[in-house]
This record gives sequence, structure tokens and C-alpha cells, in this order.
Amino acid sequence: MSPAPPPDLDRPERIDALVLAFYDRVRPDPVLAPWFADVDWPHHTPRIQAFWKGLLLGVQGYSGEPMSAHIALHRRLPLSGAQFDRWLELWTATVREGYAGTKAEEAIARATSIAAVMKHKVLSASASAG
Ligand code: HEM
Repeated sequence: MSPAPPPDLDRPERIDALVLAFYDRVRPDPVLAPWFADVDWPHHTPRIQAFWKGLLLGVQGYSGEPMSAHIALHRRLPLSGAQFDRWLELWTATVREGYAGTKAEEAIARATSIAAVMKHKVLSASASAG
């Protein structure tokens, strides 16, 4: 019997699981860990899950300002291109290792474009101003 093909990210509970798996890799990562050390996970996890369910499934539930949240983060602890590159590398690997299909590809494509815009906005915002 051939193994079952990986599922697509086409159900809310799969997106919830992807986000948990992603942060399990982010937390101990040497490049990213310092920025996540003080995160309030019970608050943060459902917000990120809602963000991705909104993007991929059109499920309403997230309201927030990711760009300004990350500019604020950068002012607390300056980011560089290395963190954005690593974030995207871990996201892409986590998606590819567990999922396949249109929504899985969309999760990678959306993350790639948002990360590029975010990197540009955050790194062009002064680390100390504001
Ligand atoms: C350098 C790469 C990144 C780092 C180090 C980072 C780190 C963080 C941290 C520490 C928080 C929690 C902030 C808090 O405590 O309120 C956060 C929130 C969040 N991040 Fe990131 N992030 C990165 C890239 C991204 C990217 C590329 C996306 C989207 C594709 C994203 C989406 C979000 C969202 C939606 C939130 C929730 C904001 C809210 O509460 O409304 N992050 N991030």
C-alpha cells in the first residue's frame, strides 16, 4: 500500500496545526529565538492561526496590524534581513514537509510576498525612532 498523500491546507484545523508546528521550530531556532522569547503564546497563537485562516480560507476572525506590530518589535529588538530569511525558510519547510496542494502552495506564496513587503517596511523604519 502506498502512503497516503499529504493533506492540503484546506481545513481550519490543518492551518491551526501548521501554525503550532511552525512555532515549535521557531522557538528554539538560534536566528529567531531572541525575538520570540517574551511572546505571550496563549494570546499570540490564536491570532496567528486566525490570520492564516483568513488568508487561505477567507474565514473572518483576525483583526490586527501585522506591519506595525513588527515595526514595534524591531524597535524593541532590531531585526535584520537574516531573521526574515530564516522565518520564510522555516515556514516554507514546515508547509512542504506536512502538506501539498493548492492551499499549501498559496501559504508559501502569500508568506513570501508578505515577508518581502514586511522586510522592506520594517528595515526602512528606524530601529530607534517613534
Ligand atoms: C523577521 C521575521 C519575523 C519575526 C522575528 C516575527 C516575530 C513576531 C513576534 C515576536 C510577534 C508577536 C508580537 C507580540 O508579542 O505582539 C509576531 C506577531 C505576528 N506575526 Fe510575525 N514575525 C516575523 C515575520 C512575520 C511574517 C513574514 C508574517 C506574515 C506572513 C508574520 C505574521 C505575524 C502576525 C499576523 C502576528 C500577529 C500580530 C497581531 O497580534 O496582530 N510575522 N511576529
